[in-house]
Amino acid sequence: MNDSAPPSDLLEAATAVQAHAYVPYSRFPVGAALRTPDGRVHVGANVENASYGLGRCAEQSAVQAMASAGDRTFVELVVVSDADPPASPCGACRQVLFEFGADADVWIANRDGAVRRTRVRDLLPDAFSLHAP
Ligand code: THU
Repeated sequence: MNDSAPPSDLLEAATAVQAHAYVPYSRFPVGAALRTPDGRVHVGANVENASYGLGRCAEQSAVQAMASAGDRTFVELVVVSDADPPASPCGACRQVLFEFGADADVWIANRDGAVRRTRVRDLLPDAFSLHAP
């Protein structure tokens, strides 16, 4: 599986932040890196909690970092895990990603070089929106 190589800087950033994942419960570290239209890069890792339901996925951490920095759109996203095949963003993440990057390109990767390329819009067809279609 190697649909198309991810942007190398985003792959590096996602891999680097994956090492910061706080995953004492699942032992399933995930890293995410996204790029805004102006070229800024924001990253996030998954951060779990003893109260399991309070854990935060990597993709959502990256979106939170982006929005907290004042950015409102991303155009590219790379997600890295150790899973084979690479782990696709969960349903909740898809909705969060759609809010800020419906048209973004997405590379779902692992550290063995497996990659699947898709788009946020294709990951979440018929997304919920408050705006008129
Ligand atoms: N996880 C993510 O970070 N992103 C996803 O899209 C799915 C799952 C995290 C949540 C939890 O910390 C671990 O992976 C196992 O579910």
